[in-house]
Amino acid sequence: MAEYRTVADAYLGSNDFWLKPLDARNDAFAAMRHETKHGDGMCFHEELSVIEGGIRGPGFWSAVTYDDIKEVNRKADLFSSAAGITLGEQPPETLEFFGSMIVMDNPRHAKFRMLVQKGFTPKMVAAIEESVKVRAKRLVTAAKDKKAAGESIDFVESFAAPLPLQIICDMLGVPEDDEQQIFDWTNTILGAGDPEFAMDLDGLIMGAAGMFDYAQALGESRLLDPTDDIASTLMHAEVDGERLTAAEFGSFFILLAVAGNETTRNAISWGMHQLTQHPDQRELLRANFDDMALPAADEIVRWASPVIHMRRTANEDVQIGRAKIAAGEKVVMWYWSGNRDEDHFPDGHRFDITRSNTKDMEGYGAGGPHFCLGANLARREIQVIYDEIFRELPDLEITGEPDRLVSGFINGIKRMPCDFSV
Ligand code: HEM
Repeated sequence: MAEYRTVADAYLGSNDFWLKPLDARNDAFAAMRHETKHGDGMCFHEELSVIEGGIRGPGFWSAVTYDDIKEVNRKADLFSSAAGITLGEQPPETLEFFGSMIVMDNPRHAKFRMLVQKGFTPKMVAAIEESVKVRAKRLVTAAKDKKAAGESIDFVESFAAPLPLQIICDMLGVPEDDEQQIFDWTNTILGAGDPEFAMDLDGLIMGAAGMFDYAQALGESRLLDPTDDIASTLMHAEVDGERLTAAEFGSFFILLAVAGNETTRNAISWGMHQLTQHPDQRELLRANFDDMALPAADEIVRWASPVIHMRRTANEDVQIGRAKIAAGEKVVMWYWSGNRDEDHFPDGHRFDITRSNTKDMEGYGAGGPHFCLGANLARREIQVIYDEIFRELPDLEITGEPDRLVSGFINGIKRMPCDFSV
């Protein structure tokens, strides 16, 4: 077992670290990148805190440079996802609910991905785009009405949180009346480390089980009675004569609801935050929207890194740089850090939509087999909501500090006030 070794007060397994201001987080990762490149190689960290009732793990290696992250991600035969993709241990009671493709290895993963890709073809994404536009317009109108009625507006609540959720629900054919319930379940699942949402393990399991039962019933109904939604496509798709079972659909639904929601929500929120802080960038984007919207959407995901890390477990002894990783040890890929690696993104903590290589960022993964299935959809959602805001609420600004989620996994914003004239 490797010895614990860290730099710059970077106790990545502790919530205290994730409470620090972003500048301090940035400095700590810069020091670790320096140590990795010019010192003794990758750091090995102690796992300091876990959710109440969870399992304390044996420690983990930190891949913090852009190149190390790419290497770990691409060598999926050496670095397994099946033992879990977050820093902490996954409680066995939750495996049924969180056992979808993101925690599968080949050959199972490749087969599953082939099946569900049928729901993410360019044609499918184009069909969803119409619903993204309709939903974005409705949110803007609702916020205008609320403001006109004298109420204050929270950016997360009014724009960033509802849009991705509504899109997933539209894709999967969830009725509007059930959307709030799905939203509450995803908050419970992803906020498990934050005191505001923290439930004990039982609470987490109840949230996941509720969503799982709901999704299974939806899948079964689409199998018997198909409509034109993606749930129907997925339930009827076949690879090698095999279809998804209702239980597989249930855990895939949870994956989509969690992976597609909180990530896009936080990209949209951090993006508006950064565009408010950098009026020159905002004006550049507004004035050249057709050309700049896509690079800006990628710069937002690079800067925000809504998924801060993904974890793998070594299948056999393997060396990355100077680090000798033993079979069974965990390696955590810190996308937040890879996206700030000075060798690829100079002055990486600076938000700059004119960077020439933002499309190479690692916010959606680093090119391995698990690369984000919803990346194109997320890119569209981010562009459409800003397009709508710039046209209908041109002076919208963030007016207060973001209230951040305490998490080393999701770079989240719970609340953030905004204002605009009506
Ligand atoms: C800004 C928004 C998003 C970000 C930053 C993001 C990020 C990520 C990351 C980092 C991974 C893991 C990649 C890896 O380990 O190599 C991932 C996987 C995944 N994402 Fe996203 N995601 C976003 C939006 C979405 C959306 C909108 C959907 C679906 C509607 C989605 C569905 C998935 C799925 C299904 C996987 C698992 C793919 C696999 O295991 O093969 N994501 N995403």
